[in-house]
Amino acid sequence: MSSLARKHILLGVTGGIAAYKAAELTRRLRQAGAEVRVAMTAAAQGFVTPLTFQALSGHPVHTDLMDPAAEAAMGHIELARWADAVLVAPCTADFMARLVQGEADDLLATLCLASRAPLALAPAMNPQMWAHPATRANREALAERGVTLLGPAAGEMACGETGEGRMLEPEALLAGLAELFETGRLAGRRVVVTAGPTREPIDPVRYISNRSSGRMGFAVAEAAAEAGAEVVLIAGPVALETPARVTRVDVETAAQMHAAVMKAVPGADVFIATAAVADYRVEGVAAQKIKKTGETLELRLTRNPDILADVAAREPRPFVVGFAAETERLIEHAREKLDRKGLDLIAANPVGEGQGFDTEDNCLELLWAGGQRSLPRARKSRLARELVAVIAERLGAETGKVIPLKHRTP
Ligand code: CTP
Repeated sequence: MSSLARKHILLGVTGGIAAYKAAELTRRLRQAGAEVRVAMTAAAQGFVTPLTFQALSGHPVHTDLMDPAAEAAMGHIELARWADAVLVAPCTADFMARLVQGEADDLLATLCLASRAPLALAPAMNPQMWAHPATRANREALAERGVTLLGPAAGEMACGETGEGRMLEPEALLAGLAELFETGRLAGRRVVVTAGPTREPIDPVRYISNRSSGRMGFAVAEAAAEAGAEVVLIAGPVALETPARVTRVDVETAAQMHAAVMKAVPGADVFIATAAVADYRVEGVAAQKIKKTGETLELRLTRNPDILADVAAREPRPFVVGFAAETERLIEHAREKLDRKGLDLIAANPVGEGQGFDTEDNCLELLWAGGQRSLPRARKSRLARELVAVIAERLGAETGKVIPLKHRTP
């Protein structure tokens, strides 16, 4: 499966003759399994109509920053957050200059400023314009900021000249875009991830569990696999598809999760515990369904093993990452957990009303000995990629090994 499957791609189209190729690009992105939203500049609409992109992407095209109806449907900040990657294709010399200046005078430029997603540009312009010192300075400034330039290619241009400036063909743009996700940051590493809730049986038909959806853990496993790691995902009962290139082991109880982790962890480089493991299990699970005989029913609970702490206590041990869901004093409680369980890194997130569990987005506070990084509110897939980037960075710092960094944080 392509790493573009299920990715949210925001395609920006600016005003150049290559805009017609962006129509084919939209089609190819959708064939690769990506969801595509298109934003067009005013000049782009002189070459191709928004209706073309609406038909190909399956969604209304975003053209105007000040359109109350469009803002009500999906506001520009929401759209910027929605994106896993932003690709501007074709990207004119003028748009590159506007990006360098940080202008926000139209919708697309604003989206590029407002999104934390990686930005890739597919320049398309006359060879003289591409070679001009002003454009060269602009592309250097953009590359310096971590913007990826895909192309241009050399060849015959629509203007009749031959040289460098042609937009890359859709196929090459797809490959370049996929590389934004396949960073190689964890190439050669083995990563074990736990995810989801556990179920602690009471009798053959009942159990104690929690509201964890497993989304964060699955997103982390997917991001680690895309970063080049060999990933084992040990999952409690969840209704989620296994990410591509991930080996999944399904378990139900905390004890089963503990056993599966201990089997998978020897030789692993990283252990990431995102699972909401039940702290207690029922003592003496009933062999038959319990009948409602009395007014009250007492269950006696026994403490489950702490999987995270047990992995951290191993010698040798992988780089150990824990999660902390807290309703109050987030940093204080998370730091205490980092120290008590002897972790290398902890990802703390606030939970409560509509936050954390069973939601699409989240925010994380990453803490390690002597360091801290905030990952502001975003979709769990984005947070997972940012978390993986920080883990790769910390892992490199701990082991002294160089992690190949092909691109900036995806
Ligand atoms: N964890 C684990 N095994 C357990 C319990 C928790 O691996 N039996 C891991 C979780 O996957 C998570 C971290 O430990 O990474 C959470 O720590 P924990 O102390 O269990 O958090 P809370 O249950 O929120 O703790 P408390 O409310 O007691 O502070």
